[in-house]
Amino acid sequence: MALASQDGPAIETRGLTRVFQSRKGFLFRERTRTEALKGVDLTVERGAIFGLLGPNGAGKTTFTKILSTLLLPTDGTALVLGHDVTKETEWLRPRMGLVLGGERGLYNRISGRDNLRYFADLYGVPLAERERRIREVLERVDLLDAADRRVEEYSRGMKQKLHLARGILHRPEILFLDEPTIGLDPKSARETRKLIRSLVSDGVTIFLTTHYMFEAEELCPKLAILSKGRIVARDTVDNLRALIGGDRTIEVEDYGFEDRELAVLRGLPGVSKIVTEEFGPMLRLTLRIRTGETTVDGVRRSLPGHPELAVRERRTSLEDVYLDLVDEEVR
Ligand SMILES: Nc1ncnc2c1ncn2[C@@H]1O[C@H](COP(=O)(O)OP(=O)(O)O)[C@@H](O)[C@H]1O
Ligand SMILES: [Mg+2]
Repeated sequence: MALASQDGPAIETRGLTRVFQSRKGFLFRERTRTEALKGVDLTVERGAIFGLLGPNGAGKTTFTKILSTLLLPTDGTALVLGHDVTKETEWLRPRMGLVLGGERGLYNRISGRDNLRYFADLYGVPLAERERRIREVLERVDLLDAADRRVEEYSRGMKQKLHLARGILHRPEILFLDEPTIGLDPKSARETRKLIRSLVSDGVTIFLTTHYMFEAEELCPKLAILSKGRIVARDTVDNLRALIGGDRTIEVEDYGFEDRELAVLRGLPGVSKIVTEEFGPMLRLTLRIRTGETTVDGVRRSLPGHPELAVRERRTSLEDVYLDLVDEEVR
């Protein structure tokens, strides 16, 4: 029996759906219905970092919470380590670790070590092993020196390390990390990513969500892109990159463009897609060009009413594919 959990995928969802009904407005009379997940089918193999990438509101936290048994789906099924997340929570919980982004979930008035003692007891870590295990994870996340200081004295980055320590304390087979670097300064974020990478060598499966393309690219050999509750791509980073092979990108910036001008740009030879983004008062159009005919000069000539127009060509990046796939959100 014990070996049964070694086979099959780490995660398998079919038609996973979650609807939130809420009320707002005057006397909460207004009902809103949000379909946070719209039938997600996803299979994740064991023993690596798998990334779920998507913009804010895509449904990443909802998905993570369902997989980690914190939230029930409205419809569909989800198996983690081969076990149903809605029916086999007792079997699953000791085998899963969860680290949600944000500051909550730690006791500020006590030390980092005492926090871990509390969670070790909660997770049923044998008392005889507790202190050694705590030392081990503190060392792992490089918090040994600060272990006996109150958590309220910790920096944001140290708190996140303590969260990670808590997440691995009971030696889970699968670890869910929801936006693990959100709100961290660049140095702490880098350290956290390094730490996450080191955890894989223990054979743990890591399911990580992020809205940073570069983070997914750096940490996750395989990833899925979630947009508005749907998986819009699922591949290796290399294959996603190949998707854009040969494409060129031209960026155009000014204070605004008319619909007529956008239509002109769309009509230029080889232009396959235009993504629009706002930067304060500026509007940036990113043109993906499939064939070589349209040039920076060509773009400039087709927008004669813009004396201050900035036009430049740059290498197409994985981020462009991402923006393409989720462009409705960034418009
Ligand atoms: N408890 C809730 N009640 C109502 N709507 C919710 C709730 N949780 C999430 N949502 C909505 O579901 C969608 C997905 O949210 P979430 O899973 O938090 O996305 P992400 O983590 O990718 O930013 C959003 O539109 C969000 O507003
Ligand atoms: Mg979230």
